[in-house]
Amino acid sequence: MGTPRARRTAADVEKVVLLVDEHDDDEDDNSFKGHSSKRTYHHLLLLLPLLALGYGYINSWSFPFPSPEPLPPFVQDGIKRCAEISRPPPNLRDYDASRKRSDRYVKGTGAVWLKNGTVWTGEHHGEEVLYGADVWLEGGVVRKVGKAGDADFHELCREAGDADLAVDEVNLNGAWVTPGIVDVHSHLAVDAAPGLEGSDSTNSLKAPILPWLRSLDGFNTHDAAFNLSIAGGITTMLVLPGSAGNIGGQAFTFKPRWTAENTPQSMQVEPPFVINDEDGWVRTKAWRHIKHACGENPLRVYGNTRLDSAYDFRRAYTEGKKLKDQQERWCAAPKSQSEPFPESLEWEVLADVIRGNVKVNIHCYETVDINDLVRISNEFQFPIAAFHHAHEAYLVPDLIKQAWGPTPGVAIFANNARYKREAYRGTPYAPKILADAGIRVSMKSDHPVLDSRYLVFEAAQAHAFGLNFSEALSSVTTHSARTAGLGHRLGYVRPGYDADIVVWDSFPLALGATPKQTYIDGIPQIIKPHVVDKPAAAQEISREGNYDKEAAEAVESRGDPDLRPKKRSGRVVFDGVAELFVPLEGVHTAGVPSRVVVDNGEITCVGTECVVDQAEFTAIDLKGGSIAPGLISTGSKLGLIEIAQEASTSDGKAVDALNAPDLLDGLLVRAADGARFGGKDELFAYEAGVTTGVTSPISNNFISGYSYSFSTAAEHALEPGAIGSTAAALHLNLNIAKHSISTKLTLLRSLLAGNDLKASDELHTAFAKAAAGDLRLVVATSNADVIAALIRVKREVAPPLKLTVIGGHESWLLADDLAKEEIGVIITPSRSYPFNWNTRRILPGPPLSHHTLPAYLASRGVTVGLGIAEECDARLTRFEAAWAYAAAPDVFSKQKALDLASGNLAELLGLNSEARAADVGFVAYEGDVFSFESRVRAVRAPGRGDLDLFV
Ligand SMILES: *[C@@H]1O[C@H](CO)[C@@H](O)[C@H](O)[C@H]1NC(C)=O
Ligand SMILES: *[C@@H]1O[C@H](CO)[C@@H](O)[C@H](O)[C@H]1NC(C)=O
Ligand SMILES: *[C@@H]1O[C@H](CO)[C@@H](O)[C@H](O)[C@H]1NC(C)=O
Repeated sequence: MGTPRARRTAADVEKVVLLVDEHDDDEDDNSFKGHSSKRTYHHLLLLLPLLALGYGYINSWSFPFPSPEPLPPFVQDGIKRCAEISRPPPNLRDYDASRKRSDRYVKGTGAVWLKNGTVWTGEHHGEEVLYGADVWLEGGVVRKVGKAGDADFHELCREAGDADLAVDEVNLNGAWVTPGIVDVHSHLAVDAAPGLEGSDSTNSLKAPILPWLRSLDGFNTHDAAFNLSIAGGITTMLVLPGSAGNIGGQAFTFKPRWTAENTPQSMQVEPPFVINDEDGWVRTKAWRHIKHACGENPLRVYGNTRLDSAYDFRRAYTEGKKLKDQQERWCAAPKSQSEPFPESLEWEVLADVIRGNVKVNIHCYETVDINDLVRISNEFQFPIAAFHHAHEAYLVPDLIKQAWGPTPGVAIFANNARYKREAYRGTPYAPKILADAGIRVSMKSDHPVLDSRYLVFEAAQAHAFGLNFSEALSSVTTHSARTAGLGHRLGYVRPGYDADIVVWDSFPLALGATPKQTYIDGIPQIIKPHVVDKPAAAQEISREGNYDKEAAEAVESRGDPDLRPKKRSGRVVFDGVAELFVPLEGVHTAGVPSRVVVDNGEITCVGTECVVDQAEFTAIDLKGGSIAPGLISTGSKLGLIEIAQEASTSDGKAVDALNAPDLLDGLLVRAADGARFGGKDELFAYEAGVTTGVTSPISNNFISGYSYSFSTAAEHALEPGAIGSTAAALHLNLNIAKHSISTKLTLLRSLLAGNDLKASDELHTAFAKAAAGDLRLVVATSNADVIAALIRVKREVAPPLKLTVIGGHESWLLADDLAKEEIGVIITPSRSYPFNWNTRRILPGPPLSHHTLPAYLASRGVTVGLGIAEECDARLTRFEAAWAYAAAPDVFSKQKALDLASGNLAELLGLNSEARAADVGFVAYEGDVFSFESRVRAVRAPGRGDLDLFV
């Protein structure tokens, strides 16, 4: 079906092609499975009068006789609108090799000849990985993918020369190449960095139903995250409004590339509306997008219970349906109309949803919510593009298939769970379970909830916990492009597709894989990339982890499996040990150290010659694995909280020592007294090698109180070893809250100097101990100026003070002073992001800087630890240490990298006494502890006489 529109701007040329040729043989997206006959019939009925009408219209336009009276302008306008709304849902055909220029082509862009790469194409039929392959980028599109040195490349090169086009020849030497990473759930530029009060355009807070809002209207082109995301390979993102309300507004797709125009609209990819010279604001053929949300957010923000939310959706869709019916009635007889075409700014997009022209993206976690929306989609007959977050989707794949129209995809996190009740049943095995059930899985960032720069890390975790590598890579490329309605031009390295390409320093799902270069529209985005040479092993395609048993338990228990270890033994003999990172003073050694004997929970002998009575020992083959100290997790409220947003599951907020009612005045709170054991995050962390948590009281006060250390394995506080230290260190907070930073520093100076303040004895005693170096102060701040002020206080009033900075993102600016004063830094979270003004001067790490923050600080002599900011991420501690190692093998040995999350933390958190280092137990890993594939097989928890076995 043609359109009556006469003239188009150059930028729109591509869309003319699309309008004329809109066959698509991609069944999944475009036939309406299970409803296809119903749907087609419905459309035909609608189209019959319109085809006649369109014909009449074109007729009168081309052959002006016998033309009695010109139609009144409102009827002419209405007829145009009828043509527009009558189009079938965007049914965009795949681009093929005949597409030689992108609508986003930037004049002057040269050609790029990528030579001798290992290309993951995204094709699932035979040609998924091409070794020794070349890729030609020109005109903003991929022109050719083929065998290195194929004659066609030389021909393209000759043609480029004839056309005076610069050709950038890049020798990849076998480096991995993938399509650009597509983030199907981002708030980039609406929740911009650094976060400032003036820049928040994530949500409206006016009402739960706001389909008329548009994320495009709040898109901040000054977001500091664009280049960071590009440095992680992000080339396209669907920018959704927030989830405060049930219908938060319309979403739009963007590429993060800086444009010469420097405008939100120039950053859009395939916009559903464009400014056209002739008609002004016109609808294109592209998909529209809308955000819906159910469950807890609308409850918290608007008091909408699930019942209210469902009613609000139905009310809104009733308006959309009413409008759609009115419009169709008008279009059935336009010439006899006395009123203009029925329009509604508020409801038109919902009419378009019911017509099937809008990708509906629903933030929805729980079975009940997914079911509500599946019913609503059937009641009003609209398809759902994807359920987002969807932490219970893995429990109900068949329900998801009952949504009206094609089966929705899911867009999920790899690990981020349990922060609220509806996320409580989240499992790391969900991507695999869902993919096996035939659901299209996308991993997403919810940027800046997760920094989209590390979206590939989400795919890599999904892979490590069961998803095969094709599905894992597809989950951030092919599948996400398709879910975002852009699968016809993005998600593959394929001729005619957008020249959005990432060249990687290792296999993209290897731990710490980092782009060497990101191309968007054929333009290299990283001006002078810093590249770390990765070992050959990191170039190999890794096998997915086998967690079938754990996945089955998650499903069988309906998302609440018993995570407690089930086997114990005090006497274990490990064979196949490749590396030992535990101290061995006084341990008997005999022969090649590939055997380790543990008796009564202690390592008693190392070596092949160690003699054991096999009958009395449990034998475990670590298959080239390692034995290392237990890891420590700090920085979150692990051990004080089970579900962060449920007050009854937590210790609650500590009293302010400086502002408390009389009885509590000057009290230093001890987190140990609020300790909670047996939570899911503790157990997930334990089975991942984290034996010890160190947590300070939940507080926004300057003086937070004493942290405590605890065993993640303990069931209650009275078990031996459950609580290590009850007053490990005194924690202070210099992030802005009630009082100014200068007020707090003045107070700190006075307390350390022992000035005669009207403070409690307890406060005076504690700060006197700190000033003498007998009690460590751990101070939360990231800002370099604040850290400098702290250093001055230490120098001027308390030189013996033992000080640790936690946060520390700008600390690299003062590395030498920190080293000189022996002030340590616990980088928290362990990868920096310019969340706010005080963390904006980050050291981003490769490919944007040579050093990572931990490596830079360590290389200057600062004692560094890695902190974990969220309870659920405690189980990722090992990966963070391994990542620090992978990014800076010149600075860290493996032992030093492990220290970042163990020995150094023990010191920086005051756990070691003069006489004794803290007991963190030890962990036996099968496989290399520095890879995703390694697996914990046994743990000796602090204070225990036997080992928990995970075999
Ligand atoms: C292509 O890359 C591979 C892997 O690094 C290398 O062994 C080979 O020599 C390269 N071939 C050419 C022609 O550069
Ligand atoms: C990868 O996983 C998907 C989803 O379970 C499955 O359809 C596909 O066959 C798997 N591919 C391979 C090569 O095993
Ligand atoms: C982002 O990268 C572009 C080059 O692609 C560069 O021109 C720009 O200055 C960078 N922006 C920032 C804030 O660093």
